[in-house]
Amino acid sequence: MPDGVTGSTARVLIIYDTRYGSTKTIAEWIAEGAASRGHVDVAVQNVAEADPCGFDLIVIGSPIYEEHPLPSVVNFLAANRDRLSDKDVALFVVCVDYGAVPKEELVHRYVEDLQVHAAGRVRAIEVFGGYLDVDKLSDPAKQTELRLSSDAASIWKVS
Ligand SMILES: Cc1cc2nc3c(=O)[nH]c(=O)nc-3n(C[C@H](O)[C@H](O)[C@H](O)COP(=O)(O)O)c2cc1C
Repeated sequence: MPDGVTGSTARVLIIYDTRYGSTKTIAEWIAEGAASRGHVDVAVQNVAEADPCGFDLIVIGSPIYEEHPLPSVVNFLAANRDRLSDKDVALFVVCVDYGAVPKEELVHRYVEDLQVHAAGRVRAIEVFGGYLDVDKLSDPAKQTELRLSSDAASIWKVS
C-alpha cells in the first residue's frame, strides 16, 4: 500500500473499462487483494460511472486494443485531472503481449497514454496478461484476420 493511505481505513477505488470482461475480472481481483489487507474500504466502478470523490487511492486500468488503452480511460484521466491531483494513483493495463515482451517495454508501449494524463501521485504501474477468445469477437472481419495471423495463433486463444 502506498504511503499516505496507511494508518486509518484507506478508501480505494478500482476503475476499469472492458470490452470482453477480462479487465473487469482483474479489477475485481485487485479489489479482493486490497480488501484482504484489512483497514481498507474498496469499491470497483466502470469508468462510465466512476466518481473518485472520497477515495484516497485510485487504481485505474484499461485493456489494450490496437496498441492503445481505451479512449474512455484516457479521457477519464484527462477530464479528472483536478479531482485526482491530491490522490494516490495506480495505473494498469491488460494485454496479450504480457509474457512475450519485457514489462518495461510494455509499460513504455502501452501505459504512456495513461501516464501523460495521470494527475496525482502515480505510485504503481502494472501490466497484466489478458485473454482473447476469438469466437466471442463481435466483428467477423476481425475474427478472420486474427485466425489467419500466426502471431495470434501462438499467443492468443484462437479456436
Ligand atoms: C481487436 C483486438 C486488438 C487487440 N490489440 C492488442 C494489442 O495491440 N496488444 C496487445 O497486447 N493485446 C491486444 N489485444 C488483446 C486484448 O488486450 C486482450 O484480449 C484483453 O484481455 C482484452 O480485455 P477485455 O476483455 O477487458 O476487453 C487485442 C484484442 C483485440 C480483440
